[in-house]
Amino acid sequence: MVRVIPGIVEYVSLRVARRFLFSDAFLLRWGRYLPYYRTNANQADPKPVCDLYTEAMKALGLEVSSERTILEVGSGATDAVGVALLERGLAGEQGRVLLYEPYVTPIPVPEPAGEAGLRCRIDRLTSLRQIARGSVDLVVSHSVLEHVRDPQSLMLELGRILAPNGWMIHAVDYRDHFFKYPYHFLFFSRRIWERWLDPGDLPRWRLSDHRRLFAGRGFRMQVLRSATLAEEFRCVVKHLAPEFDANDPDIAVTTAILALERTHLPSQEQVGSLFSAKAYEFETTADQSEQEMQRKDA
Ligand SMILES: C[S@@+](CC[C@H](N)C(=O)[O-])C[C@H]1O[C@@H](n2cnc3c(N)ncnc32)[C@H](O)[C@@H]1O
Repeated sequence: MVRVIPGIVEYVSLRVARRFLFSDAFLLRWGRYLPYYRTNANQADPKPVCDLYTEAMKALGLEVSSERTILEVGSGATDAVGVALLERGLAGEQGRVLLYEPYVTPIPVPEPAGEAGLRCRIDRLTSLRQIARGSVDLVVSHSVLEHVRDPQSLMLELGRILAPNGWMIHAVDYRDHFFKYPYHFLFFSRRIWERWLDPGDLPRWRLSDHRRLFAGRGFRMQVLRSATLAEEFRCVVKHLAPEFDANDPDIAVTTAILALERTHLPSQEQVGSLFSAKAYEFETTADQSEQEMQRKDA
């Protein structure tokens, strides 16, 4: 007997409609009126995002109110999270917030009184190339990594701009973004997903993909918090497409907060700035005197 997956007809119909009928621009404007559509946090309420970053910083032992440059990756259509970060003092009294959003055009929002002073400490960027090497102390993102098609390139750039003792905090949502069915997107082969169902920005990364990604880029990753919908997953696990490993311990993770610090050796320039010229001369002198003694012995 063929067992039909619960909700599959509704799921496929709505995914096909999302893919072929609704543009991102349409959803940005009208999404809030559609059933099942969830407005991005930066447009709805930036406070919970800021709470999450603050808690993660405290868990990592980072001084919350230190002067720093914070980069938010994938800020979305508004500067709301950037303003909230500064209001909260997470970049200190003078620090800056860089908002990197390569795809979404900002929507103008009325500027509440009192924000003008903060806005001059925010820069909105469409490319990371505009940021100097090693100049960012903290990189944060919320509901972004699960959408990134080429995470290797993004990590390479973030690795370049992050300060040697910098940190990254990424809140990642591994659910199917048709949230009523958090795991349904794992039922389809890559070919079917990409051809018919992918809204265009959901490559279906799992936490294990991100573990591999960061390990290969010289970062030490710690999962600060993660969640799983165990009962829902138990009902669907037998329907997973072969490319998803049911035995992967991370396969069912729905949301996670990832903290990353660098582990790789510093670049030549950084090494240079770590040693004073005097110490270097001393080393040279020691070498030379050793050579001289050897010459004398000979
Ligand atoms: C679900 S939205 C989240 C927006 C915002 N962080 C929030 O929580 O409201 C995902 C965002 O990630 C951005 N994004 C996707 N791929 C990206 C990439 N490679 N680099 C930077 N941002 C990216 C999208 O443009 C989009 O604004």
